[in-house]
Parts: sequence; structure tokens; C-alpha cells
Amino acid sequence: MHTPPEGANPFLYTLLVFIHIFATMVAVGLNASYVIWILRGSKETASLPFALRGVKFIDDYVANPCYLAGGVTGVLMILMGKAVAPFLWVAIGLYVLAMAIAYGVYTPLLSRQIQTLAAKGAGDAEYQQLAQRSNQVGMLMGILVVVILLLKIFEPPLW
Ligand code: HEM
Repeated sequence: MHTPPEGANPFLYTLLVFIHIFATMVAVGLNASYVIWILRGSKETASLPFALRGVKFIDDYVANPCYLAGGVTGVLMILMGKAVAPFLWVAIGLYVLAMAIAYGVYTPLLSRQIQTLAAKGAGDAEYQQLAQRSNQVGMLMGILVVVILLLKIFEPPLW
């Protein structure tokens, strides 16, 4: 149960919780699909450009905006009076780190990967290196989001 903070409009607060969970659910679900598209594209290299461009489109126009919506609704819940327990501070810190990696590293890396694939092909050493790096960065962001989710659900007493 998501008890609204004292003095907060119950409907508005619950609506924020709904948008928050729905938006982050969509983002996490889409992120999980990236590995499927990339693995399928890697098996059939003729479709690899389509798969990578599809992942980039989803990332730029759906997943990341949903994470931003998650952040905005999170801040609004706190502004409506939701107490910030230590686990939530840690979750917020991991969120900021994950978003910085998403926009600062993963997005430009995926662009370079798509360009290098078009210019040099899937067998090229530079492309292979970029592909490996973007998979590693993708994995790291996935771990950060799962840790955020674990913190939110288990609400561990940290300090
Ligand atoms: C990847 C990022 C995030 C994910 C996946 C996520 C997911 C969730 C989930 C699943 C819940 C519901 C937990 C439950 O039912 O007990 C929740 C609650 C909450 N989240 Fe997030 N969240 C994220 C980021 C954030 C951020 C950045 C903030 C703050 C700026 C935030 C603030 C909150 C608050 C205040 C609640 C409690 C709502 C309530 O129970 O009244 N979240 N989050």
C-alpha cells in the first residue's frame, strides 16, 4: 500500500505512484529487450543495422524519457511529503549515476557503433570493440536498475 504523506491529496499522490511505477516498468522492460535484438542481429548480420537502430530509437525516444518521467514523479512524491529513507537516498544516487552513464556514455557509444557498422561492417575490429564496450555498459546500467528496484521493494534499513 502506498500511503499518501500527511496533508497530500490522496488521489494525486496515488496517481504519481502509478505513473512512477508504470514509467519505470516500461523503461526496464524495454531495456531488457535490447540484448534480444542485439543477439538476433548479431546472428543475422544483414539485419544488425536494423536491430541496432531499433534499440537506439527505443532508448532515445521511449526508455530514457520513461526513466526521466520516473525521476520527475519521484521528486514530486518527495515534494508532496514522502519521507526519504536512507534506502531511497541510495536509490536516487544510483538513478543519477545510471542516467549519467545512459546519456554520457551509452547513447554516444551506440551512435558510434551504428556508424562504424555502416562504414566498416560487423567483422571489423573497431566495430567488435565498440560492440563489446556497449554490451558491458548496457550490463552495468541493467545491474544499477535492478539494485534500485531491490532497494525500492525490500526497503532495507541502511543507516
Ligand atoms: C530506475 C529508477 C527507478 C525505479 C525502477 C523505481 C521503481 C519504484 C518502484 C517499483 C516503487 C514502488 C515500490 C513499492 O511498491 O513499494 C517505487 C516507489 C518510489 N519511488 Fe521509485 N523508482 C526509480 C527511481 C526513483 C527516483 C529517482 C526517485 C526520487 C527522485 C524515486 C522515488 C520513489 C518514491 C518516493 C517511492 C515511494 C512511493 C510510495 O510508496 O509512496 N524513485 N519506485
